[in-house]
Amino acid sequence: MVQATPFLLVFCLALGAHSLPAKKCSLIGSWVNDLGSNMTIVAMNEKGDFVGSYHTAVTATMNEIRLSPLQGSLQRTNQKGQPTFGFTVNWSFSDSITVFTGQCFVDEDGKEILKTMWLLRSHVDNIKNDWKATRVGINVFTRLQRQK
Ligand code: BTN
Repeated sequence: MVQATPFLLVFCLALGAHSLPAKKCSLIGSWVNDLGSNMTIVAMNEKGDFVGSYHTAVTATMNEIRLSPLQGSLQRTNQKGQPTFGFTVNWSFSDSITVFTGQCFVDEDGKEILKTMWLLRSHVDNIKNDWKATRVGINVFTRLQRQK
């Protein structure tokens, strides 16, 4: 009986740890990406539609960068706390538009991370220039820590 006690203890702890709910990834809040761009997602409805704002650190134009609106949609079917999503940024200071698609992950340290791919569509004056109108890339977002 004395020998069985440590075994039972470990067994119960293992059971308990297994039944702990895994941390869920949420898009709401402020994020910074690998380019230094900031994005804030402020509201999401029951369907998963969300809105926010985006401040890019870089631009393909010569224009002065301004805060731009974003709107997107979170997939909620069978996502196991790490949902996929997409959003569009309609740039306030240029005639371009960017679509992002990605997934919200919780890493091994319990830190939320957004892995995304984007397409940036620039306006061109002529259909002959269509071939060079779309850039593609990857951005990784982490939560922006609030200043204390
Ligand atoms: C423009 O230059 O016309 C608008 C700004 C585009 C910024 C791009 S969108 C993809 C990439 N990720 C960012 O955070 N900024 C750039």
